[in-house]
Amino acid sequence: MKFFVDTADIAQIKELNDLGMVDGVTTNPSLIMKSGRDILEVTKEICDMVDGPVSAEVTATDAETMIAEGRKLVKIAPNITVKVPLTWDGLQACKTLSGEGHKVNVTLCFSTNQALLAAKAGATFISPFVGRLDDVNIDGMDLIEDIRTVYDNYGFETEILAASIRTVNHITQCALIGADVITAPPAVIKSMASHPLTDKGLAAFLADIEKTGQKIL
Ligand code: E4P
Repeated sequence: MKFFVDTADIAQIKELNDLGMVDGVTTNPSLIMKSGRDILEVTKEICDMVDGPVSAEVTATDAETMIAEGRKLVKIAPNITVKVPLTWDGLQACKTLSGEGHKVNVTLCFSTNQALLAAKAGATFISPFVGRLDDVNIDGMDLIEDIRTVYDNYGFETEILAASIRTVNHITQCALIGADVITAPPAVIKSMASHPLTDKGLAAFLADIEKTGQKIL
């Protein structure tokens, strides 16, 4: 399973990227706002740092302007993926941009039917939002499972990029279901390393070695 990091924070991307944990990056207008940076500048900086796909989201709502924005975004770097919303216009933009050979991530997906349309429109990635479904008491993981089944039934090559990941359990469940990619905030990826029994075991080992008075360095 590939790990994308869901942020436009350069320092946080660098920390995970240096550890080999970053297969790609996703951004959105809210993350750009949070970074306080210029969208084109920060996106270029991310693309220069990371080898994998970097999703940059259009801000128009009509297909024609989304396509024009997408054509501008792909000029930033060869690893740009154009992110378009799952609207009828977004699907039209997806069809055109993917037809031109660009990678397209169709975002804000909340149903299996939407995912089916995105695959037919040539999406490289479909982004179902797990956490935002959980927020309204709908199990987001059911959606990941259903899209996996439907895509496998028909051999669609669109990759399932599970988004709006809020917990480490979301990541485990996505891995078990077979999502192709997860995108998660840096803090969630880092907290995958935490386990209370690891902390407890380490504390006991350190206490015991201290009792011996020994040191390695
Ligand atoms: C995905 O591409 C989105 O940027 C992101 O995962 C949304 O997450 P949120 O629902 O936590 O804002």
